Amino acid sequence: MCGIVGYIGPQNAVPFLIEGLKRLEYRGYDSAGIAVCQADGSLSVRKQVGRLSNLEESLDAEPLSGSPGIGHTRWATHGEPSTLNSHPHLDCSGRVAVVHNGIIENYLSLRADLEAKGHVFQSQTDTEVLPHLIEEILKPGGKSHVEAIREALRLAKGAYALGIVFQGETDAFYAARCGSPLIIGVGDGEQFIASDVPAILNRVKKVIYLNDGEVAELRPSGVTLTRLDGTPTAVVVQEVTLRAEAAERAGFETFMLKEIYEQPRVLRALLDTHVDKNGAVRLDEDAEALLAAEMPDIQRILVLSCGTAYYAGMYGRLLFERWVGIPSETDLGSEFRYREPRLPEHTLVIAVSQSGETADTLASVRLARTMGCKVLSICNVAGSTLLRESDAALPTQAGPEIGVASTKAFTAQLMAFVLLTIRMARLRGIMSEARERELTAELARIPNAIHRVLERQADIRAISQKYYECYNALYLGRRFNYPIALEGALKNKEISYQHAEGYAAGEMKHGPIALINEFLPVVCLCTPTADEVYDKMISNLKEVEARKGRIIAVVTERDDKARAFAQDVIPVPETIEEYSSIVNVIVLQLFAYHNAKARGADIDKPRNLAKSVTVE
Ligand code: M6R
Repeated sequence: MCGIVGYIGPQNAVPFLIEGLKRLEYRGYDSAGIAVCQADGSLSVRKQVGRLSNLEESLDAEPLSGSPGIGHTRWATHGEPSTLNSHPHLDCSGRVAVVHNGIIENYLSLRADLEAKGHVFQSQTDTEVLPHLIEEILKPGGKSHVEAIREALRLAKGAYALGIVFQGETDAFYAARCGSPLIIGVGDGEQFIASDVPAILNRVKKVIYLNDGEVAELRPSGVTLTRLDGTPTAVVVQEVTLRAEAAERAGFETFMLKEIYEQPRVLRALLDTHVDKNGAVRLDEDAEALLAAEMPDIQRILVLSCGTAYYAGMYGRLLFERWVGIPSETDLGSEFRYREPRLPEHTLVIAVSQSGETADTLASVRLARTMGCKVLSICNVAGSTLLRESDAALPTQAGPEIGVASTKAFTAQLMAFVLLTIRMARLRGIMSEARERELTAELARIPNAIHRVLERQADIRAISQKYYECYNALYLGRRFNYPIALEGALKNKEISYQHAEGYAAGEMKHGPIALINEFLPVVCLCTPTADEVYDKMISNLKEVEARKGRIIAVVTERDDKARAFAQDVIPVPETIEEYSSIVNVIVLQLFAYHNAKARGADIDKPRNLAKSVTVE
C-alpha cells in the first residue's frame, strides 16, 4: 500500500525518483509526489493527484533538480485522494519533508497535542503528524536530525516505512521501518531507498533489508543504522540476484499478460529446483530441517493467507488431506486474527503470500506463533517480512509480480503445495517412491499443458467478446476446482469490474440457481473427465441448461459429454484431478483479462486496489 523511493548521490535525484515510482505504481496510484533538496539547500515539493504521469507533466513544465530527494505513490487510507493529502508532507515551516507507507495509529492524539502547541495541519492524513512532531522535537535546539526522528518514532504507534529529507541538509537523508517494507540500495557513492527491490534493480545490485525498529542515515559515502534507542546495528549488505528485465513488460501490452505467459517457465524452474533426476522431491534445507523435526508430531495443519493466496491455501488443504493424511484447515488472515482460535498442540502453520507483507497474514502468523506453532511460508518475495518471521520457507521464485492481479504467483503457490505435500507424504511414509515418481512425472507435464492453453488465447478472447457486457457471471467447480472457481471469479471482478460469483457447484441449488437466466454466463470447470465429480458437474450443467443459463465449459480435449450442454467450450489438456486446477486457472486468467480489456479497464492498475495490502 503506497510506494516510496529516495536517492542521495552526485546525480539529480528526480529522474530516479520518477523511474522508481513508475515501478512502484502498482502499490497505489491515487497520487504521486516528490521532495528534493536543491543545490542551495532549499526544499521543493511537487505533488499531483491521480497517476504518476500527472506529476511527470508538471515536472516537464517546471523542472526540479537536486539531491537528496524522496518520492511517493499513494494508495489512500486516511483522507481522500487529493493534492493536499498527497505525500510528501511538510512541517509548518516547510523544513522537514516525509513520505510514508503504513498507518500511524495514534495520529489523532499526536495531532491534538501538536495543534495545542500551535501546529497547523494541511491534510487529513495520519502521516502529517510526523514532520510536525520532528519539527517540535527540534525546536529547543541541541538535537540532531536523526535524534529527532528516533524520538518522534518512539512516540508514534503503528506501521511505517519512511523517507525523510531536511531543508539545508544536502549530504544526508533518512529512512526508517516498522511493519512496512523498505530496502536500501547500496551504490558507488550513492544510496537509494525503495519499497521493493524491482524499483532499484537497474541501479544497484547490493541491498540492505531494513529491520523493524531501525533508522537509517544515508550519505553518499555510506549508511549507518541505529535502533530507536540510538544503539547502532550492523549493516548487512546482500547481493540481489534478480535481473532488471524481470520487472519490465518485455513487449507485452500489460504486466498481467506478461506474467500469465511466464507461467510455464516459472513452474518449470520451481520443478527444476525441487525435483531431482529420479523424480524425488527435495525442499530447501530449512524446510527439510523443520519437517524432519516436526513431522512425527504434527496433529494438524493450518493454512493462513488472504485473497488469491487464500484460494491457493484451499487447494493445499485438499492435498494435505488426500496425500499427507493430516487434518487441515484454512483461514483468512483477516478472520483468524480476530476469532480467538483454539489450536491443538503440534499445529503446523503454512502461511501463503506473494508479497510476504500482507498485514492480516502477518498478524495471523504472529498470533499463531504466540500459541507455539512453527511456521513454514510459501512466499514469492525474498527478504520479505513473512520470510524473515518464518521458521522455514518454500520460495515460489516466480520473479517480481507487478500486475495487481496475481497470476504466476498463484500457480507457483499451487505447485509449491504439490511439492510440499509429496515431500511430507514421503516423510510420513505413506507415499511410495514409485507414486512420488509418478506424481512428479505428471507434474513435469504441466508447464507444457499451460503452454497449450496459452495457445488458445485467441479462442478465449473470442468467447469473452460475447459476454463482456453482461452484468454478472457465475463460476462453478468442485473439489480441486472449487478454489479455482473462486479465483476465476475474483480475477474477473478485480480487473474487469464485472460482478462474478465463485461457487462450489454442488451448492448452486442452495441459492445461486435463482440467478440463472438467459443473461447469465456460467463458467463451469468440467475437468478431468475420468473423475467421480465429473458426473456431478454434468448434473449441474443440466440444471443450468434447464434454466437457460449460458454455459462456458472448460473441458478436456477428449471430452464428449460436457460440451453437449455448453454454448462455448474451452478444451484443455487432460491431467490428474489434483493438477487440473493449475491448468484450468490459466483459462480463467485469460478470460478475465479479455473481459477487462473489452470493458476498457486499466488492467495492471485496477481501481481501488493495491498490490500488497500492508494495512488492516
Ligand atoms: O501478497 P499476498 O499474496 O499476501 O496478497 C494477498 C492478496 O492481497 C492478493 O492475493 C489479492 O487478492 C490479489 N489482488 C489477487 O489478485
